[in-house]
Amino acid sequence: MPSIDLKPAPIDFSKYLSKESTGRKRSQLKELRPYFEIPGMISFGVGIPHPSTWPVNGMTLSIPFAEKSVFIPGYGSRSTSDMLPVEPFSEPLKDEPLRPDLSSELQYSATYGTPHLLSWIKEHVQRIHSPQYDEWVNLCTAGNTDGVDGIMRAVFDRGDYMLVEEFAYPGLLSPAATLGIRTLGVPLDAEGVNPVAMDEILSNWNEEERGGPRPKMIVIVPTCSNPAGVTIPAHRKREIYAVCRKWDLLICEDDPYCFLQIRPNGADSPIVPSFLSLDTDGRVVRVDSFSKIVAPGSRLGFITGHKELVEKIMNTRESATQCPSGFSIAAISAILRAWGSHEGFEKKYIPYISDIYAKRCLSMIDLLNKYVPSSTIEIPAPAGGMFLWVRLKIESHPSFVNSSTSDPETISKEVFASMIEEKVLMAPSEFFKAPSLAKWTREEEAKRIYVRISFSLPPPEEMEEGAKRMGKALAKQWGVEQ
Ligand SMILES: Cc1ncc(COP(=O)(O)O)c(C=O)c1O
Repeated sequence: MPSIDLKPAPIDFSKYLSKESTGRKRSQLKELRPYFEIPGMISFGVGIPHPSTWPVNGMTLSIPFAEKSVFIPGYGSRSTSDMLPVEPFSEPLKDEPLRPDLSSELQYSATYGTPHLLSWIKEHVQRIHSPQYDEWVNLCTAGNTDGVDGIMRAVFDRGDYMLVEEFAYPGLLSPAATLGIRTLGVPLDAEGVNPVAMDEILSNWNEEERGGPRPKMIVIVPTCSNPAGVTIPAHRKREIYAVCRKWDLLICEDDPYCFLQIRPNGADSPIVPSFLSLDTDGRVVRVDSFSKIVAPGSRLGFITGHKELVEKIMNTRESATQCPSGFSIAAISAILRAWGSHEGFEKKYIPYISDIYAKRCLSMIDLLNKYVPSSTIEIPAPAGGMFLWVRLKIESHPSFVNSSTSDPETISKEVFASMIEEKVLMAPSEFFKAPSLAKWTREEEAKRIYVRISFSLPPPEEMEEGAKRMGKALAKQWGVEQ
């Protein structure tokens, strides 16, 4: 029997750690963190929603054991007097799907989610996407990060290949690498994933050379994508779908920005058809989130796909999150119910949220046009969402023009440093670059350098000052007038 010695004995944790945790890759965006700390920095670096867009600004909880109710403040509300009057509770009518009720919500539920929210989700998916086959089901998740994690675990073994967009969301690239999945970027153009380039990659696939079979799935962010800000039009989705069918690939449609797309006539403009709506085979697994239309901290989302695949994804969640958070389900169901039917959600609530982002997107474009010399950047067409993918015209940068050996990525680092000097921060395209088979010439590389400007968070006066600073830095770099 060893003696019980109460003196602390230091532990060397490294010997306990798995290969997964020691090899874990973190998102490159974390590298921006030190710059946030610089006093006076204006940041267009992170794509997070402004708290004023959250549809809740306070909550009260009745706590019988403590014999009181407590108030939880929110954005712009510090006391119960900031709360709107409480509507008397009415039992949901028979045909109302949403029935938030903590007496059931706070119990363990099925991993798929609570029946009443699932029934709202099912009707929502039917209304918005009208899937063309019958065997589709929904699974609640803790948001799209969780949903995509479940899909990757259900589909891939270590060493398998997965196609992604050539500039992809780091929150996809890092977990894929941790799971041992090899990602390969498909070139993009102004309409998103280029189907010809995708077909070429799959046609020329050489198992021996690649060290593995053809990819099983492509992950695409189809609306106001992160980082490239592109919304893939329906005709392009059909072409991509055809290539996936030819090579028997699944499509993971990661669509958190679906309802932030600019719609010229508001609620009267239909949303761009999703991959799910075009899917006849059950090869699309769609991932939706309440993060951008309610709030990221809600940690609630849902998957839609063929029941056989979704069951396997559900199994991965059963042993991870067990079931969705009852507090979140109760709160989100209550918010949705407050808007009335689906009609209220689609025609009033969603347009209200998307309008905020559309205005910010258009204002950011105006500011760039006003303050940044047009000889230094190419501004994309507005799509909404949270990001502008602005091309730096490295091909006309003096360092590129005056030296035939200067490397475009090195010049981009100089430009980044110069913006940091002016105290404006944005995410450089190298942070989003997926591994690629493409071979670009130096001239082509020079036309493939971007910055991601996130316009979702800064107040209007910071947006203006940030654009001025960017203009000043780039004018200096390119040696032109601001
Ligand atoms: C493309 C993409 N997928 C997923 C996420 C994460 O979404 P969620 O908060 O639902 O996990 C984000 C958020 O930034 C994103 O941009």
